[in-house]
Amino acid sequence: MKVTYYGHSCFAAQVANKTLLFDPFITGNELAKAIDVKTVHADYILISHGHADHMADAADIAKRTGATIVSNYEITEWFGKQGLQKTHPLNHGGGWQFDFGHVKFVNAIHSSSLPDGTYGGNPGGFVVESADGNFYYSGDTALTMDMKLIGESTRLTFAALCIGDNFTMGINDAVKAAEFVRCREILGLHYNTFPPIKIDGPAAIEKFKAAQQHLHLLLPGESLNLG
Ligand code: NI
Ligand code: MN
Repeated sequence: MKVTYYGHSCFAAQVANKTLLFDPFITGNELAKAIDVKTVHADYILISHGHADHMADAADIAKRTGATIVSNYEITEWFGKQGLQKTHPLNHGGGWQFDFGHVKFVNAIHSSSLPDGTYGGNPGGFVVESADGNFYYSGDTALTMDMKLIGESTRLTFAALCIGDNFTMGINDAVKAAEFVRCREILGLHYNTFPPIKIDGPAAIEKFKAAQQHLHLLLPGESLNLG
């Protein structure tokens, strides 16, 4: 599966010839300034929660590409009121069979309010299952025992986990999360963008290595084949 990183928690995965774009936050991200958001493609935009650092560019990209926004009920309603009618609402524990594969909305422990203060429902993560492989995106979350349920039910090709600490899991909890979801190929997200989430990249890679896990830290714009 080809994965492209766009900085912070934004990445795209190529699944069955569709581009799934997660949590687009590009124009407001100093570290992603080399990326021209107008060149970012999407067939689906999956949004974990309503915070601006996860959806600031979603409306513009959806309007330009015609992509379908997939998120929780409250967030898809909010985009609908802004004229974006191509949405698919999910809620926790529920999944849907799309043309590229199956997406399940899973638990995350965090908060979720939209930029104008609207209630954003509860934050989540996604488990994507497809003929090309399966993966888990944690969204912003604490380490949770619920992650064990994902490991028990789905064999993952990779897991995209928040690792930056302060607002989400830090490195040690992310290593534990990788154990819980039974996955050794990890894409690191939600780090370095802001001062409180700066990490020591090489030290983080070593910590994962000590647990027989492989942490991938990509530069914005960089792609990788996983699985
Ligand atoms: Ni957040
Ligand atoms: Mn965030």
